[in-house]
Amino acid sequence: RLRVLSGIQPTAGSFHLGNYLGAVRQWVALQETHDAFYMVVDLHAITIPQDPAELRASTRLAAAQLLSAGVDPARCTLFVQSHVPEHSQLAWVMNCLTRFGEASRMTQFKDKSAKQGAEGTSVGLFTYPVLQAADILLYHANQVPVGEDQRQHVELTRDVGQRFNSQFGDTLTLPEAYILKETAKIYDLQDPAAKMSKSAASDKGVVWLMDEAKVSAKKFRSAVTDTGTEVRYDPVAKPGVSNLLTIYSALTGLSVGEIEEKFAGQLYGPLKTEVAEIFADWVAPFRTRVLEFLDDPAQLDAILAEGAAKAREVASGTMATVYDRMGFLAPA
Ligand code: TYM
Repeated sequence: RLRVLSGIQPTAGSFHLGNYLGAVRQWVALQETHDAFYMVVDLHAITIPQDPAELRASTRLAAAQLLSAGVDPARCTLFVQSHVPEHSQLAWVMNCLTRFGEASRMTQFKDKSAKQGAEGTSVGLFTYPVLQAADILLYHANQVPVGEDQRQHVELTRDVGQRFNSQFGDTLTLPEAYILKETAKIYDLQDPAAKMSKSAASDKGVVWLMDEAKVSAKKFRSAVTDTGTEVRYDPVAKPGVSNLLTIYSALTGLSVGEIEEKFAGQLYGPLKTEVAEIFADWVAPFRTRVLEFLDDPAQLDAILAEGAAKAREVASGTMATVYDRMGFLAPA
């Protein structure tokens, strides 16, 4: 079995539809065919300021959402990143193997730090992709299911892993990004040129999974489209309509062609209303399950503790080999 690994940041509120369609849905599918490791990356979350009580709550909320979306601890290893100290340990090693210039080319860092300014940006945000590389390399992951925005970080992981292997001997597995073309990038409903993002200036176009049903229905119904009249998939000329078709297709399993046919001769209104209904039907039982999991934090914590123990078995082995190959003196 090939191994997959991926992570998601805990966010106050909830995941958004881009997180689900771009990544989490693939995690659920891949646990059937792969040896799967999935984690809530709380160490990544603190690259921007976090309120302690909120971080604790959103870490549980993230785990509850993953479980409710179908991530199954009987089929995969689900854990919290900070529960496995080897992530921080390997990250330091990888920091020393990553070139300053290489890290400086990461577009996500460039975007975020440009917004925040040098004085508002932590060094942690700069080395964020290096911690991510450590996450992946620790488990010898073959594939990393993510959205398009993470492709560059997986490339960096390969480069740094390769550098370790050529300096210290073949040790680490070089991963590949696993990105489904159709849902690689879900766009903001109000600004279909931008990806749906938790850090969008306005959340009017961001569909949060835990939003009240009427809130998300309204977001779909007021989605920005174009002045045309034909429901047709054309990401260049009709980015808004195409985004709605992508979401419709992903949530129903119908092909884009089938949906175009269904809406032939209709204006955009019925498409928006129907996507809103399809999303509402999908999300209602999801939300119920999340609230049930949150009702029993002890059970949630027990699931995560079991996952961390399984993860540590792998991570500690890799870490010991890495230290040994690099020439660290083993404690007597
Ligand atoms: P994060 O928490 O920002 O996002 C989680 C996942 O959601 C995907 N995603 C999207 N996919 C499609 N359309 C969108 N609009 C959209 N927005 C977000 C992301 O690509 C991601 O797959 N650095 C990672 C977390 C991470 C990680 C790892 C991932 C840490 N360590 C190791 C893989 C392997 C991140 O911040 O994801």
